[in-house]
Amino acid sequence: MNDTSSAAGRRLARVRESIAERGLHGLLVSHLPNLRYLTGFSGSNGWLLLADDRAVFYTDGRYRQQIEEEIPESLGFEFQVPSEGLLGELAERADQLFAGSRVGFEGSRLSYDNWTRLSEGAGSVEWVPVAGIVEGLRAVKDDAEVDAIQKAAAIAGQALRETLAAVEIGVREADLAAELDYRMARLGAERPAFETIVASGLRTALPHAATGIRKLEAGDLLLIDFGARWQGYSSDITRTFAVAETTPRGLEVYDAVLAAQRAACAALTAGVRSGDVDAAARGAFQERGLEENFVHSTGHGLGLEVHEGPALRRTGEEPLEAGMVVTVEPGLYFPGWGGVRIEDDLLVTDSEPRPLVDLEKHDRLRALPL
Ligand code: GLY
Ligand code: MN
Ligand code: MN
Repeated sequence: MNDTSSAAGRRLARVRESIAERGLHGLLVSHLPNLRYLTGFSGSNGWLLLADDRAVFYTDGRYRQQIEEEIPESLGFEFQVPSEGLLGELAERADQLFAGSRVGFEGSRLSYDNWTRLSEGAGSVEWVPVAGIVEGLRAVKDDAEVDAIQKAAAIAGQALRETLAAVEIGVREADLAAELDYRMARLGAERPAFETIVASGLRTALPHAATGIRKLEAGDLLLIDFGARWQGYSSDITRTFAVAETTPRGLEVYDAVLAAQRAACAALTAGVRSGDVDAAARGAFQERGLEENFVHSTGHGLGLEVHEGPALRRTGEEPLEAGMVVTVEPGLYFPGWGGVRIEDDLLVTDSEPRPLVDLEKHDRLRALPL
């Protein structure tokens, strides 16, 4: 049962250890990125009932062939593909396998309806909500995962370089986003990592703007937040430019954001509290009296999900570990004027972080065309 010949086998072995340490007899894994991490399954409906001595994987008929292709035989999974009532059948099986024992489920990942089906169908099981068993493992990447994120960043970076040639007065935000998405696809992305954000003018003051149909005007700020997905892994990058001409205030705000980003990167090393990295960025803004305009956290873990652990936020207590991959993305936002954000992806090491994004980051605000 303890296959260690594959990454999935080693990961499952660690989850089983974690289950035992918590006094549980099993775990129901339903969060899709966790399933992908543990099994390789990339479909949209999968449930893994994991016990010490067996693993039963449930999915629906759409994925009958895919599970055989994606999930290594060496893991020894039993596959169940009910034609309907998947969760009812799973609950019945759990009731037999785990009668009277404690089984974990991913409390923050299960809908109320599914919880009701599960708890009613497997009444003899003591269901225990657990958090972070698989996510905790996922936070520290292995070499193959780091390579995948770096590749996702390389695709995105090259696509932006190519897209910047299309920036001109009168072009719409949506046109630039479409161009960038197209270029990422042509360069090998499975898809954009998230909906590409192209915001211009006053709309750059929205920290999470949706791409619109506004046309670029001379003197605008132009903020592009984008990423590619490659082999399931994402990149997440932001660059900010000026259109045609810079302004003194634009230069000054960009300078402050870059200083904050550098300060956070300088603080990013194994062993420091995640909150200390956030504090480094925030401190650079405080020195300039701009902290009120930094309205989000400094960064987040990146991997199979665009947002995963560890969070680089003010209250973050957990020490960072070598192998974590995080974004560092301070920004300043001024309603009625605009905003600047700069975002890179970095690997935490025991010394300096290793940048995973290879894309020019100008040391002062640049006007496009370059
Ligand atoms: N693009 C989403 C983020 O930067 O977190
Ligand atoms: Mn981003
Ligand atoms: Mn981000």
